Amino acid sequence: MRFLEQLSLKLTFVLKSLFFLQYIPHALFYSFKRDRINRQYLPDSSSSPVIQPGKLLQAQATDRGADFYFEQAELEISFLTAELVRVNWFPGLPPIPYAIANQDWETVETTLSELGNDWAIASDGLSVIVGRNGSLTFCDRAGQILREELPPQRQGETWIHQASLQSEERIYGLGERASSLNLRAAKDELQKHKTYQMWNKDPGGRYTPGTDPIYICIPVYLGLHDRGSYLIFYENSFRAEFTFADIASAIFAGGSLRYYMTVGEPSQLMEHYTQLTGRAPLPPRWTLGYHQSRWGYRTEANVRQEVKAFQTHNLPLSAIHLDIDCQVGYRAFTIDPKRFPNLNSFTQELVKKGVRFIAINNPGIKFTRKSNLFLEGQVLNGFCTYPTGELAIASVWAGPLVFPDFTNPKVRAWWSRQYAYLLDVGVAGFWHDMNEPAAFVSWGDPSLPQVAQHCLEGRGGDHREAHNVYGLLEAEAAYESIRQYRPQQRPFIVSRSGWASLQRYAWTWTGDTISTWEALRQTVATVVGLGLSGIPYTGPDIGGFQGNPSAELYLRWFQMATFLMFYRTHSSTSVAPRTPWSYGEPYLSIVRSFLQLRYRLMPYFYTLAWETTQKGYPPVRPLFWSSWSDRSLWDVEDAFYLGDALLVCPIVQEGEQTRMISLPQGHWYNFWNDSMIEGGKTIELEAPLEQIPLLVKAGSILPMEENQQLVLHLYPPVKRAGGENPIQISYTLYSDAGDGYGESRLDGFYLIRQEKSLELVWEQQGNYGFPYQRVQLHVHGTSVQQAWVDEKETTVHGEQLQCHFFRQIRFGCN
Ligand code: GLC
Repeated sequence: MRFLEQLSLKLTFVLKSLFFLQYIPHALFYSFKRDRINRQYLPDSSSSPVIQPGKLLQAQATDRGADFYFEQAELEISFLTAELVRVNWFPGLPPIPYAIANQDWETVETTLSELGNDWAIASDGLSVIVGRNGSLTFCDRAGQILREELPPQRQGETWIHQASLQSEERIYGLGERASSLNLRAAKDELQKHKTYQMWNKDPGGRYTPGTDPIYICIPVYLGLHDRGSYLIFYENSFRAEFTFADIASAIFAGGSLRYYMTVGEPSQLMEHYTQLTGRAPLPPRWTLGYHQSRWGYRTEANVRQEVKAFQTHNLPLSAIHLDIDCQVGYRAFTIDPKRFPNLNSFTQELVKKGVRFIAINNPGIKFTRKSNLFLEGQVLNGFCTYPTGELAIASVWAGPLVFPDFTNPKVRAWWSRQYAYLLDVGVAGFWHDMNEPAAFVSWGDPSLPQVAQHCLEGRGGDHREAHNVYGLLEAEAAYESIRQYRPQQRPFIVSRSGWASLQRYAWTWTGDTISTWEALRQTVATVVGLGLSGIPYTGPDIGGFQGNPSAELYLRWFQMATFLMFYRTHSSTSVAPRTPWSYGEPYLSIVRSFLQLRYRLMPYFYTLAWETTQKGYPPVRPLFWSSWSDRSLWDVEDAFYLGDALLVCPIVQEGEQTRMISLPQGHWYNFWNDSMIEGGKTIELEAPLEQIPLLVKAGSILPMEENQQLVLHLYPPVKRAGGENPIQISYTLYSDAGDGYGESRLDGFYLIRQEKSLELVWEQQGNYGFPYQRVQLHVHGTSVQQAWVDEKETTVHGEQLQCHFFRQIRFGCN
């Protein structure tokens, strides 16, 4: 039997490989053409002189900062808030503000002063010292130097921007990277500091740790050193390169040198950055559950069978994703009516089972006069062209395609309308793939030529500027569509590609990883790095996209993903079908217990999603998040925080049943057995197959839900020996209807630890009714002797207490 299964898998693989051969002739033709056109039209800056600003001639205070006039450049420094400053060097092509969510800033008091040979422009949170030669130094409120920039250089259309780094400085961000978490640590084959490319790229169906670039490049990074941390965001979507050696250098192929600098602790940096580029809206609550996907669900019957199997195995499921095989000839906005004959009733049938139907969509439109979309787009003049005006045609799954120009507002509006009928038949969300945009090639860049022409909101420009924002603008069009055509429900879009501010419209996933332990380990750095680049919702294809993971690898991957925001198994067409039951026991039972834990943690996840809307914090955070000055945490890239309370230590090596972890200061409870662990050192933790180390910070309230009841797990703060008592901590729980834009509520819980008692106070706010029938309190780490609910003595069972509403509960404990 096993032999037959293997044989059939091999045969399918061979057949599918033959299928890919059909793309070769056009890919060859296109690759030649792309190179020829680029050679003919691409501007070359390399022979232009390198220009520096020259000497500073004059400085002049403005409303929110100052202007500085140099011999060969102008500099405008504007404070948007006391801690966020915009720096703009002229000349240069002004950017189109695709990434900027907020154009309206309150006034900020600034002072301009002469400092010996230099000038300083300062608010009460940040000062910038402008050197006579155009160097800039950024200092925080306390006058600590956080960043020192060299005078910028311009060569033709190219901008070169450099800053000196502290020897201990770490760098994080740049969007989605298959690199070390600290980007400065990675070396290339010659052992030189790695150069990171800013050019969204489909790595061609698979990537491994070290591949660069991949799908989402964002010119934003966070610098961290002994004196503090800062964040810089370049508002420039042009092709670029970043290197972090002794000097951090950023080289942009065009555009203007406009960037934003902000200082503060990492959490403040994320708050400031998302104030500028926008915060992720609250997703529907079901999106935080488990999603099942596979390149291979062809028919309604396939999907029904899969959903049924989830039920049979008693596994919760929130969404099923339909890949290109549900389409007609892989064409955009199609779902084959022959294979999905009753889509409307089918999506309703699924919703009754708690499962949402998500449909894939790729941006290319089949190049044929038989396609209405092609004809409509042509009438709009809405496709990308070569500089000659000829349509740029490249192959993706559906064959030769043309590419909608999303930098044209008319095209975005037209694209928005296309989602309407799928929304009408109950498609709950959209999965945007191949939107770098990707093209099949025989060599070179798998995308449109750099010189392909774009509308760029009417001012015109080429693909060097439009490429990186392509997926972002597609996501914007889809988001606006769902807001317009289904105003009662919140949008859910997953986009493979994007740029700064993608968080306003879409989630993402980490793409076509291979099924190896290294790729599992890489997921942590990639997801945390994306979070520090403003993108809070992401996760991997559990088990890896390309390959057949062993049972152990799939399980460990699944356990880790239980604590990431996007929780989805997905795999390629050329690998064995992958579901939680594919590996039999004991794996199925362990996966089930993790799935159940995820659903119990839903109030915690949902509240984190709400916190993101308020503060822009990524729910998945690096270990230095709230202890930035602790150097031992700067390089931890195989563990992460989920919110403030949970520290997750996945197992990322084959056969491992224990692991080491460098713990932040403080005290930690082992989630599985409540044992108390002292932080501030490296320790070893148990990780049998059934568990991955999961720690809860002492001084946390962890909300869970079970059978209509809210279970509040209280993890008391540790009494400070000889220190100040009482200690108070608080937690705010967010609830609403789970979708739509109706009422909501906040339940504030305050936990006060006294010498011999623990007190919990509950304050309610908002008009949405309390969504649970009962509350259960579970006190961890201390033995409870007595309890008083609103001063009335009550029985405690073990460390648990059941109750309804209360204002105050007091536990007598040791
Ligand atoms: C791309 C996507 C992958 C998808 C496949 C087929 O490789 O990244 O997730 O399954 O295309 O649509």
